[in-house]
Amino acid sequence: MKTMLRLCAESEVVEGVPVSVELDNIPPLAVYRINDEIYVTDRTCTHGDADLTEGFQDGDEIECPFHGGSFSIKTGEAVNLPCSKPLTTYPVQVIDGIVCIEMPNHSA
Ligand code: FES
Repeated sequence: MKTMLRLCAESEVVEGVPVSVELDNIPPLAVYRINDEIYVTDRTCTHGDADLTEGFQDGDEIECPFHGGSFSIKTGEAVNLPCSKPLTTYPVQVIDGIVCIEMPNHSA
């Protein structure tokens, strides 16, 4: 059976204000709302050591606060330079109002 990780309450996640989540043994995460859907990605930019929850959400893209690169929140694809390496995304389940993901295989 897969281990589910509880990240935060769905109601806490407001569109345009990504939520930072830190748990033991996995990379820091960012939780986003786009309309009625919740998405989870790694929190750290793949170009440098920037916290993407301090960046700017524009629809389904997150812009890095350091050099202005951006990623698709839904797919993790790097959509603007200098970002070129995709961001890891995680399938989300909302269980009893709590945003959950399966324990990732890789560790921090
Ligand atoms: Fe994110 Fe450079 S650290 S674009």
